[in-house]
Amino acid sequence: MESARNLAAAAPVAPSGAFEQLAREIEACRRCPLGSTRAHVVVYRGAAHPTVVFLGEAPGKAEDEQGLPFVGRSGRRLDAAIAQLGLPTSAFGILNVIKCRPPGNRLVAEAVRQCRPFLERQLALLEPRIVVTLGAAALKAMDPKSPPITEAAGTVRSGASARVFPLVHPAATFRSRRYAQRWEQDLARLRELLRTFELETL
Ligand code: URA
Repeated sequence: MESARNLAAAAPVAPSGAFEQLAREIEACRRCPLGSTRAHVVVYRGAAHPTVVFLGEAPGKAEDEQGLPFVGRSGRRLDAAIAQLGLPTSAFGILNVIKCRPPGNRLVAEAVRQCRPFLERQLALLEPRIVVTLGAAALKAMDPKSPPITEAAGTVRSGASARVFPLVHPAATFRSRRYAQRWEQDLARLRELLRTFELETL
């Protein structure tokens, strides 16, 4: 297990081979209008073979500037949560439903549609055992028939190839005390689920 300090300071581990090739393809994408407003395409940060993948919605300002997912305020909250879960850098990865920053941070339906094959191919190559969705849009991308996020958060749902574990979006925890409490409560459930997984692989 790594310390919170190590985890927060960890440099992104770039997966190689087919994933790198896919990353180049995503970076060259101009299929939707966001291709001409972005500063950087935001593909992935994390391990080559993560057990857990955290799936956000779309890059924000900091992510667009740096070309990495969850490196702003929400990212710091997510990193703290990952440290709390005790996940080493070799065990997790972070990505988004859409790869370019939408102006005004509003999800653009066309971008969701055009990015969909990229997301599917990323998940097929990463092969995580659990996809932790962050917020309603990420949950919808993984499980379109899911009940609303307020109902589904903190419960295990079965996806096509991995289990899906919805959390509220970390940004929501800054806006509402209720969501901040929900975040902590559901993280405790996720910690339990991860413990079960560890036992299964002993
Ligand atoms: N919010 C997201 O959903 N994704 C990011 O990468 C940053 C903030």
